[in-house]
This record gives sequence, structure tokens and C-alpha cells, in this order.
Amino acid sequence: MKKYKVGVLGATGTVGRRFVSLLENHPFFDLTILAASQNSAGKTYREALGHRLSDGIKIPEKFYDFKILDAKNDAKKVALSVNFVFSAISMPKTEIRLLEETYTKFECPVISNNSAHRSTPDVPLIIPEINTTHLEILKSQQRRLKTKRGFIVVKPNCSLQCYLPAVHPLMIFKPNKILVCTYQAISGAGKTFDSWSDMKDNLIPYIKSEEEKTENEPLKIWGKVKNDKIINSDLPKISAQCFRVPVSEGHTSAVFVSFKNKPTKKEILDKWSEFEGEPQKLFLPSAPRKFLHYFKTEDKLDIKKARELENGMAISISRLRKDAQYDFKFVCMSHNTLRGAAGGALLTAEFLCKKKYFDF
Ligand SMILES: NC(=O)c1ccc[n+]([C@@H]2O[C@H](COP(=O)([O-])OP(=O)(O)OC[C@H]3O[C@@H](n4cnc5c(N)ncnc54)[C@H](OP(=O)(O)O)[C@@H]3O)[C@@H](O)[C@H]2O)c1
Repeated sequence: MKKYKVGVLGATGTVGRRFVSLLENHPFFDLTILAASQNSAGKTYREALGHRLSDGIKIPEKFYDFKILDAKNDAKKVALSVNFVFSAISMPKTEIRLLEETYTKFECPVISNNSAHRSTPDVPLIIPEINTTHLEILKSQQRRLKTKRGFIVVKPNCSLQCYLPAVHPLMIFKPNKILVCTYQAISGAGKTFDSWSDMKDNLIPYIKSEEEKTENEPLKIWGKVKNDKIINSDLPKISAQCFRVPVSEGHTSAVFVSFKNKPTKKEILDKWSEFEGEPQKLFLPSAPRKFLHYFKTEDKLDIKKARELENGMAISISRLRKDAQYDFKFVCMSHNTLRGAAGGALLTAEFLCKKKYFDF
């Protein structure tokens, strides 16, 4: 099978290093370009990473001597050397928007982790098990961008990937109200306990802009493509509180849901058990065998187990029970830099590849 050449923008960051690690021996993709900021450009990957080479994400040795390019000033060179790029750059939103569109103008598709384009109406916000039908909007996006091959697809915020997948199979019961509290790992801020020692034995009940993303992005994911736009869904109404907790990797959520059409506990468990998405049907290389795992024994789940499940690509759910104010409540866990970031974006790219989106 033909392999597609890929570059990682932001290859030195937390998410970028995850991409590099996941792309070591990928059956569809060959990682040929690593790019980051001007500070890293010109260095080898090993030099640019310095102490980050050994901070928990295993970097394959074959990439140590890759020369880092400048994701911004070498954009043309990067774009013309690969079939598509993963973007995992931290930069102000206006600059990211411009940079990602620059890559598309060089006819290089961009699969982005950044939030800059998440609310652009013709940019699909994809969880591959849930809304790959939104990819039909790419034709409209390419008309706007005046590109033939170039397009932007984004991945949603990591916080909502630890609750939305569990709600999705229940959409048939018309959930109308959700309350969610998230407990988010420090890697979600691109940090480790070495770089953020103040987080040891600590909790910060505030993450900038996180609650807005957690409340609004699901409505786009559950929205409909109409007249060259993705129109957000009106329901369910979502209220979120997001906390930073002293956990290295893995986000947890406490979820409360009310439904218009009241399901029984068994009906909810059946929907979770039956659920599979396109990645499972297509046997994509990064797809978990089963996306949603329910743990019946209430005290058997913890974040260390949950984040390892199916290589960090599955969602763990437990403690489903009736609630006095909402209909049901449960807890949900996922790996934030794998399923919630690099792994989720890689799975999206595998779907795009399988469906020939990189072949125009
Ligand atoms: N961490 C998560 O769990 C998570 C989850 C979902 C989405 N995201 C999103 O993914 C993106 C990356 O997050 P992260 O946590 O990996 O951040 P990070 O660890 O801070 O890494 C940032 C990356 O961006 C590069 N960069 C910074 N300024 C640049 C510039 N002016 N030009 C080119 N490259 C530049 C850095 O390169 P240098 O090393 O050369 O400075 C580095 O490679 C962010 O948009 C974040 O919001 C993160």
C-alpha cells in the first residue's frame, strides 16, 4: 500500500511528541518532517527536546537526528514535501488561523489540535466514531479557500472527549440537559510535574476558556451540515465546570443527564455496549476494538487504568445510577493526549486516508 508523507508542526510539544511516538511504524503514514518554533529550527530533534527526551513519552531513536524546520518561515518547504500535516502548535489564535490556512493554500491538508478553527463554520470538528458525515463540508471549505487539495479538519477539545462519547449513543433518547464537572490532567496544559511543581498536592478550580469549549463544541459535533455551514444543535443545554487536578495524564468527568424520552438503566447500558463507529467498522489501525467500556464494579476503575485502556484510545464509563435532580449520573474517563489529542487526530487522518481525502 502507498504510504503518505506526513509532517508534525509543533513536534517538540506535549502533543507533538505523542504524534512522533505514534507515527513510528504506521501502516498508512511515513513521518518525514518535524517542525516547531524558530527557537528549535536548525537543531536536531534530540537537541531541541533536551530534557523532554525522557519525560515519559517514548521518542523513537530513528527521529533523534531529524533537523527541525521552522513551522512558520519554512511553511512552503514543509507543505510541498508532505501529503498532509498534523498541527500541534501553541500560538495566538489569529496567527494559528493564518498559518493553517497558509498550509492549505500550498495544497497541504491540515489536521489540527488547536482551537483556532474550531468555531469556523465550514471547518469540521471531528470525533471519528461520531461525526465523520461532517466531512462533506470540506467541498464548501475548499471553495472558500480556493484550494483543490488543501483543507483544515480539527479535533475537539480534550475535556469533552471524556464525556461526549458516552452521551452520543443516548441521543436517541433526546438528552435535553447536561451538567458536567471535569477533572483534568496537567499534560492538558502541556506540563509535567517537573515543569509545574506547584501542581503537586494541589487543585486549581479554573482552566481558562475550558468551560466555554466544553459547553459549546459538542453542539457543533451534534450539528448539521446545511448551506455551506455546520449549524450547531440547540440541545442539549450543557453546563460545565473544569478543574485542573494533580494527575499527569487522563481526564475524568462527573456527568448528570436528563432526557426528553426517559430511558431505563438497562437501555442506557445496552446502547453503550452496542455502540461502534466508522473506525471500528473499517478496522482503522488506531481504532480501539471497542470505543466505550462500561465498568460494572464501582470501585474497580481509576485514571491509571482508564488511560491505558486500548492504547489510550477507549473511553471508560462507570457508576451509572439514577439521580434525584437529573435522570441519570455517571463517571467517564479518557486519555487526554492520546484519545483527546494526538491519537484522536491520527484516527481522523486514518479515516481521511481510507476514504481517499488525501488523493485529490
Ligand atoms: N496537551 C493536551 O492535552 C492538548 C489537548 C488537546 C489540544 N491541545 C492543543 O494542542 C496544541 C499543542 O499543545 P501542547 O500541549 O503540545 O503545547 P506545548 O507542549 O506548549 O507545545 C507547543 C508547540 O508549539 C511550538 N511553537 C510555539 N510557538 C511557535 C511558533 N511561533 N511557531 C512555530 N511553532 C511554535 C513549540 O515549539 P518550540 O518547542 O520550538 O517552542 C512546541 O512544539 C495547542 O494548541 C493545545 O491547545 C493540547
